Amino acid sequence: DILPDILPPLLQWYPAQADNRQLPWRESPNPYHTWLSEIMLQQTRASAVIPYYERFLDALPDIPALAAADETLLMKLWQGLGYYSRARNLQKAARIIMDRHHGKLPQDQSALQNLPGIGPYTAGAIGAIAWGKPWPAVDGNVLRIVSRVLASSADIASARTRRAVTDALSPLYPSGSSAGALNQAFMDLGATICLPHGAPHCPRCPLAALCLAHEAGREQDFPVKKAA
Ligand code: ADE
Repeated sequence: DILPDILPPLLQWYPAQADNRQLPWRESPNPYHTWLSEIMLQQTRASAVIPYYERFLDALPDIPALAAADETLLMKLWQGLGYYSRARNLQKAARIIMDRHHGKLPQDQSALQNLPGIGPYTAGAIGAIAWGKPWPAVDGNVLRIVSRVLASSADIASARTRRAVTDALSPLYPSGSSAGALNQAFMDLGATICLPHGAPHCPRCPLAALCLAHEAGREQDFPVKKAA
């Protein structure tokens, strides 16, 4: 089982890599900032998110402000990002947080995942980055990287594979700042090296020495994606 072996090289690689990206949400990982950035980053690339993220926080600096914001302002702040349901869900969740969670994002995993717009991936990202919870954030990047490292033909479009990867990673995760570093290392590796389209940049990959797909010269055969 080589999965445990991928975490140390990822953690070693991440700091140098993170410095290269200069992402404002990495400078102040409070729960609200992390939440907002993860929602914005769901359908929009990081470089495009930066100005929206900064403007949004200038106008609505905390959860009480978001909960009380007027609709016109909220929509104006989101204009250009698209997928407006993301903004509506943010505010819906902020109102629930004010009503039921004393104005703070709940640290309980299921309470967090039950908020509008927050699923298992986003809950994992917020928990690990903002609170150091040992929660993986399994998205397409993680599924692709793990499939390649293991040369696994499991269908990454199936909920079963996603659960299996989450269950395999969870017990390996550390608590504390390394948890957020790991989740963001997967994101960075997926965005810059272990690319979804075209040839991955294996010579620069911290996992190349362990990667079974790379060893077989079959990087492009993984991941397998079948279910619609
Ligand atoms: N994509 C999703 N979350 C991200 C993060 N925290 N940093 C960079 N890219 C991301």
